[in-house]
Amino acid sequence: MRDLRGMVVVITGASAGIGAALARSLHRCDAKLVLAARRKERLDSLNAELGNEHHVVQADVAREQDCRNIIDETIARFGRIDTLVANAGYGIYETVDQTSPAQFRDIFAANVFGTTDLIHAAIPEMLKQHAEDGYRGQVMIVSSVAARRGVPYLGAYSATKAAQLSIAEAMRVELADNKIAVTSVHPIMTKTEFGTTAESRGRIVLPRSDRDLMTQSVEHVARRMVEGIARPRAEVWPSAVSRILVGLGTLIPMTVDRMMAGYYQRVVDSNRASKDG
Ligand SMILES: NC(=O)c1ccc[n+]([C@@H]2O[C@H](COP(=O)([O-])OP(=O)(O)OC[C@H]3O[C@@H](n4cnc5c(N)ncnc54)[C@H](OP(=O)(O)O)[C@@H]3O)[C@@H](O)[C@H]2O)c1
Repeated sequence: MRDLRGMVVVITGASAGIGAALARSLHRCDAKLVLAARRKERLDSLNAELGNEHHVVQADVAREQDCRNIIDETIARFGRIDTLVANAGYGIYETVDQTSPAQFRDIFAANVFGTTDLIHAAIPEMLKQHAEDGYRGQVMIVSSVAARRGVPYLGAYSATKAAQLSIAEAMRVELADNKIAVTSVHPIMTKTEFGTTAESRGRIVLPRSDRDLMTQSVEHVARRMVEGIARPRAEVWPSAVSRILVGLGTLIPMTVDRMMAGYYQRVVDSNRASKDG
């Protein structure tokens, strides 16, 4: 069990949603935090709420230099990095064929290359550190339930989340002997700004009943992530049921296709109705 008190945790995407909730939870455990995102005023007000004890970095993770700055500023301020939480990311509600090449490149730049650029900057620093409570460090990647099963209207996003999972799976084995843990996180729909952003970037609006379906709170997801930081594990699935359903999907994909087709049709109908109305 790692002692969270004084632990240095970098959280990207800390200006909203899951990242902000995780920051609040880790603050209560006396961790030292680096809060990164593009909206600096949001980060400053979160830091003020938490007693201005933490470090704020304005960064766009789609830029390699910004990822490097996050890690450089962490080392300069706190001298080590115990857990890197690569959480920044977004979705686009759109069909695959209507997602433009530029949109594909942009979403991979933020969700995937944002993750790998942070990893490239952080791992050399972790390798220099002595182990604390059995670990030199930990990389926690916030992927999604969509990593294991692509979701209609979230095809590009699902692809980025699958890429993050593959990276986590490979790295976990590669870094085990160096005492660096790698954990992927797989939330289902969580009440954050995710849906609003995804709608603003695509043409599709989800029916509110679907947006409310199977949603979990950010506090619940953050709690499970804190457990995964204190006791590193391979994967964190905040909804156990989703893990079983997605597991079944790899064995019986056509059955899951049929379930997904029902959801797809509901979205088609509701978008048609709102256009006609
Ligand atoms: N909510 C869900 O249903 C759900 C489910 C599964 C997985 N997830 C994953 O959880 C993570 C957090 O999402 P959320 O639900 O908390 O959404 P959110 O409320 O929209 O928060 C997204 C965060 O990511 C940051 N971000 C986005 N693009 C960025 C960029 N280029 N550079 C730096 N920061 C960036 C945003 O900050 P700025 O805009 O200030 O930069 C914000 O802090 C994402 O990786 C998402 O894929 C969410």
